[in-house]
Amino acid sequence: MASGGHRLPLPLQREAEVQARGPLDRRLAPNPSGERDHPFRSGHPRLETVEAVGGLRRRIDGWRQAGLRVGFVPTMGALHQGHLSLVRAARRRAERVVVSIFVNPAQFGRGEDLDNYPRQPRRDAQLLRGAGCDLLFLPQEETIYPPGHGTWVDLQGPPAIGLEAEHRPGHFRGVATVVTLLLNLVRPDFAVFGEKDAQQLALVRRLVRDLHLAVEIIGAPIVREEDGLAMSSRNAYLDPQERRAATILHRALIAARREIEGGERRSAAIRVLMRTVLDSEPLATVEYAEVVDAETFLPLDELAGKVVLPLAVRIGQADHSTRLLDNLQLTLT
Ligand code: PAJ
Repeated sequence: MASGGHRLPLPLQREAEVQARGPLDRRLAPNPSGERDHPFRSGHPRLETVEAVGGLRRRIDGWRQAGLRVGFVPTMGALHQGHLSLVRAARRRAERVVVSIFVNPAQFGRGEDLDNYPRQPRRDAQLLRGAGCDLLFLPQEETIYPPGHGTWVDLQGPPAIGLEAEHRPGHFRGVATVVTLLLNLVRPDFAVFGEKDAQQLALVRRLVRDLHLAVEIIGAPIVREEDGLAMSSRNAYLDPQERRAATILHRALIAARREIEGGERRSAAIRVLMRTVLDSEPLATVEYAEVVDAETFLPLDELAGKVVLPLAVRIGQADHSTRLLDNLQLTLT
């Protein structure tokens, strides 16, 4: 602000400067102390937001040249404590944390909720600031998929067969492509994904191996509401009655765990048990309730080693139901 002219009193001047930079979402508060301050402190006073690749690269290259470790958390926004737990996990391992918010059209099928998917970037930015994020990458669709984009990452084998791959054709192609693009754009030392989407996490681990990407993948545990419902951006779609019914997923997993702790090792018995519990809820329609290997996501006859019990259940009336996922991960000796 070197030019003469009329100057406002300082607080108003600051407000005017913030407004001149564009929507408040862009930069929530100026950081007078500079970005080198308190690299590990959670609740960093400023959250910088970039939309373009150039700005993202410049910022991250600077950090890397300074020898700072960079963690990354990709999301689709409408953030809740589940997402924020990933940010905190990244924070514990890195001096700088980048979060992306991009509602990726390529992973939504026809008739799915792309247009209605909750979008609240201003609130998200505030939550991220509190959780210790340093940089929010908020790209436009054309930034991720420029005109002419034609390269897709499409894992053909396990863990991208069955379950989500079967019930949402094309979904994993969209996920694998966008995750690869985001990892290439951010080039973090590691990225954190939730175990809530266990098959997605297994797919990301596979693609990182297959493509020899130089990034570590870290899984973080499922964060739940007090009554056991796994947190999800889609829980916002549930009306109060459906919200109560939605606890059936966690109750089915608890019942399965109790049975396994009692010595049951036959997958068929566990599948039947989970189905029986889920079917007891009139508002629930089961898509799958399985027992699979944690790495391949192929069905198991016997429970042994690292096992996942994944559920996909629709809650509500057929014409406007909400599809919810949950799972239980176990290591059996
Ligand atoms: P989204 O559904 O926004 O989830 C972003 C990340 O948060 C995922 O790794 C997901 O597993 C994790 N997550 C969601 N709910 C959680 C919970 N209750 N506890 C712990 N972690 C949770 O998953 C996606 O976005 C997209 O597919 C993406 C990977 C960003 C690619 O577009």
